[in-house]
Amino acid sequence: MGRTAQQTLLALLCLAAAVCRADDEPATGKNSKCCGIPGPLGYPGIPGVPGMIGPPGARGVPGAPGIPGLPGRPGPPGLPGLPGVKGDKGDPGLPGLKEEKALDDLVCKKAAKNCKELLARGHTLSGWYTIYSKDCAAMTVLCDMHTDGGGWIVFQRRVDGSVDFHRDWESYKRGFGCQGTEFWLGNDNIHQLTSLGKNELRVDLRNLEKNYFAKYESFSISGEFQNYTLVLGDMLEGDAGKSRTQF
Ligand SMILES: *[C@@H]1O[C@H](CO)[C@@H](O)[C@H](O)[C@H]1NC(C)=O
Repeated sequence: MGRTAQQTLLALLCLAAAVCRADDEPATGKNSKCCGIPGPLGYPGIPGVPGMIGPPGARGVPGAPGIPGLPGRPGPPGLPGLPGVKGDKGDPGLPGLKEEKALDDLVCKKAAKNCKELLARGHTLSGWYTIYSKDCAAMTVLCDMHTDGGGWIVFQRRVDGSVDFHRDWESYKRGFGCQGTEFWLGNDNIHQLTSLGKNELRVDLRNLEKNYFAKYESFSISGEFQNYTLVLGDMLEGDAGKSRTQF
């Protein structure tokens, strides 16, 4: 395109020169030999062709940044993360129950298992003592420290009729009454005490005139599953007859 425009321009320029020459020749011919009056002004030339469209201008300076837009709505919650790494092992706890139990065991080992042991340790007063029989189970019992040499566990006492002894199975199982007057130690307790080793049984009866007693070589009662069956050995001595109605 540019080349075609150039060719057109050259052609036009040639034409203009030709016009000039044709114009000059008669003047030159006329005025070469004499200095006469200058001829009339020639006709103005044909206006030039408009120039070509220039190349595009340089890119403009970028405009100022716009006002920031409003914040968008919050996105949906993400998926739960993976479980964390296992933490360090904690410090060991304070010594607690174990030591307490050790102390209990020590007390139990040192404690008397029955009234006879208490008597041997110098407890000569009859009264209620805590003994530790089987499995370190504490039990409070009445020790008779004077009858027949002392050291007897009293599991029943009836003196004044202040306590009702017509009771049910459960009552006899657990025991009832008062330490100061009448009581039954409880079949479970008696079973526990008599299952530890050999025990003698002594029964003392008293009325206004006379004391009676009976002493048996061995005595135990079975557990509840065997209905607390009484197992009584031979009578060693006594004057209360062979009555077993007491049990
Ligand atoms: C205990 O007594 C109940 C009721 O009298 C009786 O059914 C059961 O057989 C007895 N159990 C034993 C071991 O004697």
